[in-house]
Amino acid sequence: TRRITVRDVAGAKERGEKWPMLTAYDAMTASVFDEAGIPVMLVGDSMGNCHLGYDTTVPVTLDEMTMLSAAVVRGTRRALIVADLPFGSYQEGPVQALRSATRLVKDAGVGAVKLEGGERSHRQIELLVESGIPVMAHVGLTPQSVNAMGYRVQGRGEEAAHRLLRDAKAVQDAGAFAVVLELVPAGLAAEVTRSLHIPTVGIGAGPDCDAQVLVWTDMAGMTEGRVPRFVKQYADLRRALGDSARAFAEDVVGGAFPQEEHTFH
Ligand code: KIV
Ligand code: NA
Repeated sequence: TRRITVRDVAGAKERGEKWPMLTAYDAMTASVFDEAGIPVMLVGDSMGNCHLGYDTTVPVTLDEMTMLSAAVVRGTRRALIVADLPFGSYQEGPVQALRSATRLVKDAGVGAVKLEGGERSHRQIELLVESGIPVMAHVGLTPQSVNAMGYRVQGRGEEAAHRLLRDAKAVQDAGAFAVVLELVPAGLAAEVTRSLHIPTVGIGAGPDCDAQVLVWTDMAGMTEGRVPRFVKQYADLRRALGDSARAFAEDVVGGAFPQEEHTFH
C-alpha cells in the first residue's frame, strides 16, 4: 500500500467524489482513523485547544507541531498527513515559511502543510510549492487571527463575499492543492467550490464543498462542554471514557479488581 498523495486529491474533484478529513494529534488515534479509511488527516493547530490545554491555537509552537506530526505519521500507513504551520512560523515571509515547512517535511515526514490566509499568504504558498512542498490553504475564519477577528461567520455581505472569493482564487493561483473554508455561508462556499479547480474542504461551510473536515474530538464526542453548531457528534467518547475510569476506580476501591484471571502465581 502506498500513501495517498495530493494528486489523488485532485483526481477526486475531477471525478466528483467527496472525501472526509479528520484532525489527529497522536499515533494511536491516527492509526484508528487510518484503519477506518480516512484518506487525509490534519495535524491541526487545534491541538492547542484539544490536546495541549491552551485557550486558542495561537500559543502552539513549531516544536510541538513537529513532535505530534511525527507521531501521526508513524501511526499511519495510507493517509496523506497535512500539518498546520503554527502562528508565528510563516507570517514573517516566504523564507521563514519555507524553513518551518521544511522542518515538518524532513523531521516529521508529513506530505503537505497548511497555512492560514488568502491574498496575504500567497507569496508564502508560491515559494513552498516551487520548493516541492504541497500546500493546503485556509480562508474564511482563520483562528490564528482570533485576536483581530474573533470567532464568527465570515463572508457575509457582498463586499466580504467578494473578498473571500478573491482570497480563494489567490491561493489557487499561488499553487495550493486544496483550500479549507471555515465558517462561511453555504451559498458562498458552493460558489467558491464551483469557481475553483482545486478542492474546497468545508468546516461550517455547508454541504457543497468537495470535502468536509471536523476536529476529531468534536466528531467523536470527546470535547468538554458545548461544541459548535456545525459539528455532528458520531460517538459519546467522553462519557464512555469517564464511565470506564469510574468503573475501574470503584473496582480498585472495592477490591473487585484484580481477580484470579489477572493474577500470576
Ligand atoms: O487546526 C484545525 O483543526 C484546523 C481545521 C479546523 C481545519 O485548521
Ligand atoms: Na488549524
